[in-house]
Amino acid sequence: MGTPMRSGMIRRPNETMRLIVTTFISIVFGFFLGVSFPTISLTKMNLPSTLLPSIDLGYIEDKYSGLSSQALLNVWSLIRHHKGLSSYEPEDTKIWVSTNPQGAQRLPPGIVASESDLYLRRLYGIPSEDLIIKPRYLVTFTVGYEQKENIDKAVKKFSENFSILLFHYDGRTTEWDEFEWSKRAIHVSVLKQTKWWYAKRFLHPDILAPYDYIFIWDEDLGLEDFDAERYISLVKKHGLEISQPGLSANSGLTWQMTRKRDDSEVHKEAEERDGWCTDPHLPPCAAFVEIMAPVFSRNAWRCVWHMIQLTRLNPDIQNDLVHGWGLDFALRRCAEPAHEKIGVVDAQWIVHQTVPSLGNQGNSENGKAPWEGVRERCQKEWATFQSRMTLAERAYLKEKGIEYNTSTNG
Ligand SMILES: *[C@@H]1O[C@H](CO)[C@@H](O)[C@H](O)[C@H]1NC(C)=O
Ligand SMILES: *[C@@H]1O[C@H](CO)[C@@H](O)[C@H](O)[C@H]1NC(C)=O
Repeated sequence: MGTPMRSGMIRRPNETMRLIVTTFISIVFGFFLGVSFPTISLTKMNLPSTLLPSIDLGYIEDKYSGLSSQALLNVWSLIRHHKGLSSYEPEDTKIWVSTNPQGAQRLPPGIVASESDLYLRRLYGIPSEDLIIKPRYLVTFTVGYEQKENIDKAVKKFSENFSILLFHYDGRTTEWDEFEWSKRAIHVSVLKQTKWWYAKRFLHPDILAPYDYIFIWDEDLGLEDFDAERYISLVKKHGLEISQPGLSANSGLTWQMTRKRDDSEVHKEAEERDGWCTDPHLPPCAAFVEIMAPVFSRNAWRCVWHMIQLTRLNPDIQNDLVHGWGLDFALRRCAEPAHEKIGVVDAQWIVHQTVPSLGNQGNSENGKAPWEGVRERCQKEWATFQSRMTLAERAYLKEKGIEYNTSTNG
């Protein structure tokens, strides 16, 4: 069917009908074709328009299975006769735009799209009508199927103003379809990785550009007393760039800072045991939230994403902070002044249930329990991260000729 050689033949009525239908469908793809079809396939081949019917469209047909090559040809001729496009001669243009993103300098700036989103779209209709709601917030959970009941309850605390993204560390994704919300969620499945591993690879700030706030949460949180919309309005009211909900008293608390208070909406500092805080404006007494349930503003996340270490050129110092240990102490570098822009929301609080999930995913070695191996790795990575941070900071200050004190920490 539909080989180019047949384009000059007399068509039977039912074929004409089919062409009309397919042409309509094709026009929907007009934008896509307008970009990829003429530039990739035809201008590269640089064929005069009279030769057009002799192009072998088999390759393109494979790519757009379901659209006949005849229909593609029809769209192509529509596009060509569209005002302005017929005189388009890419060979004549010499483009080099140094302000374009690295690697994209040959493109005219008007076509450069360096940001995206996680919105699910339809494959038909008018693109601008694809979305009834454009969620302005994103929530991610790193999950295993064992925690499905808890995650189902948690997700229901987030309104339709949230994009939902699940990172599956146990490879089980289709099972989640029993939940209605699962169909509009995004599922990323990679075996046995942790939250920050996924975050570095799948939460690039340019992809998250439309989201005002980003929740990067664990699976073992109890959200009975939590409402996400109200949480966000408090975060806005108090100007928090990095935050977390307060943890209830039965949460197995590590730090005073993250303990929920009954008498306030938000708090930004805490008292620790004697000698734990050299400076009341520094972690763990202020400018500090933990890594199990952080919420970032768009700008703060752009900064934090760059702090997660992944050094392609030197695998020896690759360091993803398996469980994020130590990252919480460094978050203050991504908000200024940190002791005012980082805080804990008391009025919307959660329970940390401390379910050991990935903590148990280590290997038994030398008679040690799996979790010990994971903990060791965490400690090692924390130390590596801290020394890299200190060294990087000193190198910078030295280069700038700025005096520094040796007491810099995380
Ligand atoms: C979603 O966001 C809109 C706009 O900010 C707001 O009016 C609406 O109340 C939100 N939805 C819910 C369920 O809170
Ligand atoms: C270093 O520490 C000293 C004494 O604590 C202080 O006076 C000085 O301002 C500090 N310098 C810098 C660059 O922070």
